[in-house]
Amino acid sequence: MRVLITGATSGIGERLALRYAKQGYSVIACGRNQNKLDSLCNRFPAIETLSFDLTHYGEYPSLETEIDLLILNAGDCEYIDDALHFDAKKFERIININLIAIGYALEKWLHRIKRGGRVVLVSSSAGLLPLPRAEAYGASKAALTYLAQTLSIQLKPHGLCVSVVLPGFVDTPLTKKNTFDMPMLISTEEAASEIIHGIEKGKFEISFPRRFIFIMKVLKLLPLSAWQKLATRMTL
Ligand SMILES: NC(=O)c1ccc[n+]([C@@H]2O[C@H](COP(=O)([O-])OP(=O)(O)OC[C@H]3O[C@@H](n4cnc5c(N)ncnc54)[C@H](OP(=O)(O)O)[C@@H]3O)[C@@H](O)[C@H]2O)c1
Repeated sequence: MRVLITGATSGIGERLALRYAKQGYSVIACGRNQNKLDSLCNRFPAIETLSFDLTHYGEYPSLETEIDLLILNAGDCEYIDDALHFDAKKFERIININLIAIGYALEKWLHRIKRGGRVVLVSSSAGLLPLPRAEAYGASKAALTYLAQTLSIQLKPHGLCVSVVLPGFVDTPLTKKNTFDMPMLISTEEAASEIIHGIEKGKFEISFPRRFIFIMKVLKLLPLSAWQKLATRMTL
């Protein structure tokens, strides 16, 4: 089995790459940090690496061999601290890596997935609710989840399966930047186990931790005006 993972140099993607390599998969690990890619190869010489910026359309390498699994995990988070003085460039950076780059990867690599294979989009539970300061991140992830939902309808007749991953808080360099409390924070090991298990079960939505997602989905049932009142009192 052959899996390509973007964002494999850190956090959730790195853990997934190591876990799949341990399971004997042929792993293609993508990232920009060459040192981190080299250290992955030192641990598992069979891991192949692709080093390039996913937001650069022209840099995508074509894949020589077919793959069974495409995990589009790379992403970034920056908060909009002052919505009144909207930072369009910050907005663009986040939309580019979290959403536009997914489109690039789908164009370049989707046709290399074997029939019966799967594409996995790593979105976020942040896309479930409008959260303070998440104008860029939340919008990108809400759109990504929509993209996964519609892709799953369109790709089914072609024998391709789709999963979307909605994590709560996972302890990674991305969340280390957060200065607020992160309830039910889990490790990358736990997150990777949830994702691998969900993929093995053929699930469309792979969301975790279960209690955190349950609370988010209950809050989502509130009338928007009630949620807006609650959200303005949140300090994220
Ligand atoms: N951590 C959480 O609590 C959490 C919760 C919900 C969803 N997620 C999602 O899970 C995914 C992984 O997040 P993480 O927490 O593991 O983050 P992370 O530790 O910061 O890792 C992000 C990865 O994305 C890669 N990346 C970022 N920009 C890139 C670019 N322009 N081109 C190529 N690679 C790029 C980075 O590679 P290089 O540095 O080598 O470029 C790195 O490997 C993201 O999509 C994130 O939104 C995370």
